[in-house]
Amino acid sequence: MTKLWGGRFTKTAEEWVDAFGASIGFDQKLVDEDIEGSLAHVTMLGKCEILSSEEVELIKGGLNILREKAKKGELEFSVHNEDIHLNLEKFLIDEIGPVGGKLHTGRSRNDQVATDMHLYLRNQTEEIMSAVKKLQEAIVCQANDHIETLIPGYTHLQRAQPVSFSHHLLAYFWMLERDYSRLSDSLKRVNISPLGAGALAGTTFPIDREYSAQLLEFEGIYENSLDAVSDRDFIVEFLAASSTLMMHLSRFAEELILWSSQEFQFIEMDDTFATGSSIMPQKKNPDMAELIRGKTGRVYGNLFSLLTTLKGLPLAYNKDMQEDKEGMFDTVETVKGSLLIFAGMIETMKVKAEVMNEAVHQDFSNATELADYLATKGMPFREAHEVVGKLVLTAINKGVFLLELPFSDYKDASDLFEEDIYEVLQPKTVVARRNSAGGTGFEQVKKALAKAQSLL
Ligand code: ARG
Repeated sequence: MTKLWGGRFTKTAEEWVDAFGASIGFDQKLVDEDIEGSLAHVTMLGKCEILSSEEVELIKGGLNILREKAKKGELEFSVHNEDIHLNLEKFLIDEIGPVGGKLHTGRSRNDQVATDMHLYLRNQTEEIMSAVKKLQEAIVCQANDHIETLIPGYTHLQRAQPVSFSHHLLAYFWMLERDYSRLSDSLKRVNISPLGAGALAGTTFPIDREYSAQLLEFEGIYENSLDAVSDRDFIVEFLAASSTLMMHLSRFAEELILWSSQEFQFIEMDDTFATGSSIMPQKKNPDMAELIRGKTGRVYGNLFSLLTTLKGLPLAYNKDMQEDKEGMFDTVETVKGSLLIFAGMIETMKVKAEVMNEAVHQDFSNATELADYLATKGMPFREAHEVVGKLVLTAINKGVFLLELPFSDYKDASDLFEEDIYEVLQPKTVVARRNSAGGTGFEQVKKALAKAQSLL
């Protein structure tokens, strides 16, 4: 069987070589985008009187039949026809006869494949953005219920200062907000049409690139035909934004995993998102959170893989660029799946507020408050730090926490202490008083929640 491009060849291709070069195994994912792009292209060819209106109608009819067949899974793609573009062109010619061969007038697979990927990534980025919003909603929902639930705040994974659990959760809301904004910004560069750039240099046909761009709802066209067919920045950007997003999910997953451990017991995962052990009957493992943490690796890998593929490529199209697709598809599926699962985990997790509240009473995370107390009364903070450090040591030696230390110990440490320290040292007071902008004080958290809600 000859190839659609077989004219200058004397030997027929060997199947095992074809199989190596083919992308149809994965780029059939672009079937809808490829047909959409072709419909816009042929409509433009009609408008510019490059093809007659009868030809255009025939081709459009054929493309619509292919679209229906694709939906029903009736297209039998073949490695012999290499990729989605040549497969569809072959089907079109089979469907409507030689006039189908006019579709490719003034176009190359190079601008065609770029157009497909711009369309694909536009749709997928929008879907991912709404999945980000869903997760943010789940976070806000839990945060709403736990403004007054206290949890130890950590630095170096050592108890540092108590915070509102709501505040802790909302930290992830704002990370996701940046992820959303990165994705949204990347759309500006995704939403540009390479169609009509031809193989690399433009075309002799009097095409109207603005018109086909408009039909595809692109916001503009690439200024330079060489750039149009060899640019994959928009995919790199998507992969980079996805990597950052996954890094956030992975950190959050790590906390959920820690919190579900016997050592913390701050939350319990819903059964749906946990699994048991094949040998240890008592186990409930946070598998989904672990898997999201794990999948972050492949998303980073996809970013590096594409950057590496692109780094030595001369202009314009090179076959290396066919390698841009699988990592992109994989990232799209991984990110969408991870976001969906994450929202489910957050929505359904049981927050053990009593355990958290109990935890903040079992530590020295109110010590800063005591230093601030002395500083407010005029003692230089550095000196206050020293005084309180000694008090902590006294308490440790006596086997108690600061709230249980007798007042005489405080008086011995500094005359500035009054009986009101026992109120000041209450974790609730400690949290409430951190009322600086963006702090964990309940007033601030309520403000932050309202702001978060307004962004949903
Ligand atoms: N399957 C190819 C790809 O994904 C389509 C473009 C092929 N262009 C070419 N000149 N061989 O990159």
